[in-house]
Amino acid sequence: MDKAQILVASNRGPVSFSINEDGSLDYRRGGGGLVSGLSSAAATTDTLWVCAALSDADRTAAANAPEARLDLAGFDLGGMRVRMLDIPPETFGNAYTRVANSTLWFVHHMLYDTPNKPRFDSAFRAEWEDFRAYNAAFAEALLTGSADNARVAVQDYHLALVPRMLRGRRPDLRIAHFSHTPWAPPEYFRMLPAEIGRELLEGMLGADHLGFLSRRWADAFLRCCEVFLRVDVDWARRTVEFGGRVIDVGVHALGADAESLRSRAGAADVDEWRTALRERVGDRKLIVRVDRTELSKNIVRGLEAFRELLREHPEWHGRVTHLAFAYPSRGDVPEYREYTEQVQRVAKEINQEFGTSSWTPLVLEVNDDFPRSLAAYRMADVLLINPIRDGMNLVAKEAPALSDDGCALVLSSEAGAADELGADALLVNPYDVSETARALRTALEMDDDERRARCERLVESATALPPRRWFEDQLRALK
Ligand code: F6P
Repeated sequence: MDKAQILVASNRGPVSFSINEDGSLDYRRGGGGLVSGLSSAAATTDTLWVCAALSDADRTAAANAPEARLDLAGFDLGGMRVRMLDIPPETFGNAYTRVANSTLWFVHHMLYDTPNKPRFDSAFRAEWEDFRAYNAAFAEALLTGSADNARVAVQDYHLALVPRMLRGRRPDLRIAHFSHTPWAPPEYFRMLPAEIGRELLEGMLGADHLGFLSRRWADAFLRCCEVFLRVDVDWARRTVEFGGRVIDVGVHALGADAESLRSRAGAADVDEWRTALRERVGDRKLIVRVDRTELSKNIVRGLEAFRELLREHPEWHGRVTHLAFAYPSRGDVPEYREYTEQVQRVAKEINQEFGTSSWTPLVLEVNDDFPRSLAAYRMADVLLINPIRDGMNLVAKEAPALSDDGCALVLSSEAGAADELGADALLVNPYDVSETARALRTALEMDDDERRARCERLVESATALPPRRWFEDQLRALK
């Protein structure tokens, strides 16, 4: 790999800070494929990661030492430099909560209940100005921090405008943009005001290489370019001509980091959770789901499918427990707060309808606990992953890789992961509660040998492109 400097830009960075009782600052490594993906590249190359300060502790850290050289515990990141941007709270709130999370996320995941939302008025256009300013703050930090010919890996919809902002001022940079979400088809994308849709597409086309998690999302992006920018797409090469340059669009299907997950899942705290959960559920079969409480994850329909299974198949009463871990997410967005309440309400109804003094059919946990999630992955007989739309869904890849005795996977056809796992998962239409209930029953009743054999093949596909190679592939595409 060539050794040119690497810059990464993402809203959420590789660390988060906290303030100790004595006022000193501590930092904790964040999870995710990008951090592990960078471990190889950063060990041998000068690397700078630019991200936003997300909490008061982050802002204090950013004010005291805007650029820190950090050794992230357990990961040889070669003393990667991290630069946290202290963006004014109002600008950040409008850019992140209003435009990125309440608008772009909704468009790409097709989440709108259209009679009332979206509504693009003058208030939205003012928020859009802040989205531009937030992208400009990232672009400025990248320009300041980059050596000649550096490679820049911009992440996600939050920073869609950055590639063009960089291109205009520094044609020497080699720029990649990677989308971790799905991309909306033109029929849905056209909901955005025309000038804003075009600005997003043109912003991304400032890059040399655009990466997506699934061919479906890459194709949707290319179709949007054809429809809204009227540019020529070479479908055989998967390139777009724009502004006198040729931009290529690639698919990089991020896989699970099996090695590091297995070593983490073998730790004592995970074993303790495993024992505790086993005591709680006894020898009943286990259906497990682990998500952020996120509208796109379709948790309510998943719970309703479990309810339908119990209604129609009383032979399963007392013999199955559903562990549903639904961790807090994006509490600043009203729709997420309402959804969290709805999840809790439906969970309560299910236990009221079927629970007995010796059996709690549904165990809903809402506080985030990573070792407990890993213990559940190891124990699951059935894994339920039914998003309405999902860029990839790494849980679908990580949990089978940790399974102690092979799990069956009930998977939404609308998750990017279905591209690679579809042959051995039980695929469902996420809107079809009855089909999901039937798939849960098939999974519960699957013969042991078949379940183990399918799970082995799932693991093979799920680990085909580990984070390290996923990231290297993108850098290679910049040559
Ligand atoms: O997968 C898409 C993504 O936006 C990631 O970039 C992000 O880390 C994740 O969803 C969670 O979102 P947030 O950082 O807003 O909590």
